[in-house]
Amino acid sequence: MRLIVPRLFLSPPHMSGEEIPFIREAFESNYIAPLGPMVDAFEREFSTLTGIGHCVAVSSGTAAMHLALRILGVGPGDEVFASTLTFIGSVSPVTFLGATPVFIDCDRTSWNMDPDLLAEEMKSCARKGRLPRAVVPTDLYGQCADLDRILDICDPYGVPVVVDSAEALGSTCAGRCAGKGAFASVYSFNGNKIITTSGGGMLASDDPAFIEDARSLSQQARDPAPHYEHSRIGYNYRMSNIIAAIGRGQLRVLQDRVRTKRSIFEYYRQALGDLPGIEFMPEAPYGRCNRWLTVVLITPERFGTDREALRLSLEAENIESRPVWKPMHLQPVFAIDGRAGQKAAGKAQHVPARVVGGAVSEDLFRRGLCLPSGTQMTEGDMERVVAVVRRKAKG
Ligand SMILES: Cc1ncc(COP(=O)(O)O)c(C=O)c1O
Repeated sequence: MRLIVPRLFLSPPHMSGEEIPFIREAFESNYIAPLGPMVDAFEREFSTLTGIGHCVAVSSGTAAMHLALRILGVGPGDEVFASTLTFIGSVSPVTFLGATPVFIDCDRTSWNMDPDLLAEEMKSCARKGRLPRAVVPTDLYGQCADLDRILDICDPYGVPVVVDSAEALGSTCAGRCAGKGAFASVYSFNGNKIITTSGGGMLASDDPAFIEDARSLSQQARDPAPHYEHSRIGYNYRMSNIIAAIGRGQLRVLQDRVRTKRSIFEYYRQALGDLPGIEFMPEAPYGRCNRWLTVVLITPERFGTDREALRLSLEAENIESRPVWKPMHLQPVFAIDGRAGQKAAGKAQHVPARVVGGAVSEDLFRRGLCLPSGTQMTEGDMERVVAVVRRKAKG
């Protein structure tokens, strides 16, 4: 009889216990509402931690991006440049607003938006008098995009940069917290993130008027009046007081989580780095990555098997792993130049989009695999993963 071993998840939530007193306080105050003192304190503490002047806590990272782009005036007829190697929540807000995403390929040193491609495309769009309304680079798997270079490219054209740092809380870029220095930045507290509130997000900026506008739009854009008065349409995106209480506890363990994630990465690298045909996601020289997920590239000709066969072998041992994000320009919903695969029958949409480059992200998708990186993993858990990978490797 085969023993059932516990499932190893990619990046499950990890509560610390520090959350409990805040949750109790929220309960005892009866502030079970979509705002309140915990939300205010969570925002203040987040600002202090990141060094970003102002922020608003919302229901998800996707909501935070939607608010940012809406306030920047993104709308029909506009283009927004975004990373192609990312999660859809980074770019779906562009389409909520009726604008067209332009997907920029990544480079091999950071796996993030390639500044050279961005510069070329910006120049070409400027020549045509069609500058993008915003640029949205993703900080992939916790690795910061090269923000200083991206700002050097965008600033002369007056194009604002909104960094998608959903995966990068705790990482640094040129010594600053992920996202700091951009016009605005977006974070996620979804259940799989380095710290989580079950679900939630934060929009941060050094521009106080921008954040105040986002706060208003996130709570149905109510005008100041004793009755309910509205002169524009907003959203119900506010974070609840009880969720913010979890967030306050989680903020206190962020640095521990970064240390653990980085040590998991090091463990895998030492245990697997000698195998032919396996490479680890590089760390860009300008930053320090939180290593939210440990990601490897498998070259089948040298490793002996491909990424998908390795994933299935891990799955057979009750170990969750996942291919690198499928690039946005390959998603059936965007269907660019016939590159996308088969559309799902029935409910498929076709949303216009463009792509600049694409070969690098396609290669990373084909060969990339995210390994279990939960901060409660034991050495025995990591050894289970290592044993499967070593068994599948040639020689
Ligand atoms: C890169 C990236 N962008 C955006 C999001 C969206 O965040 P949320 O799930 O909180 O809406 C996520 C994660 O879920 C993400 O990984």
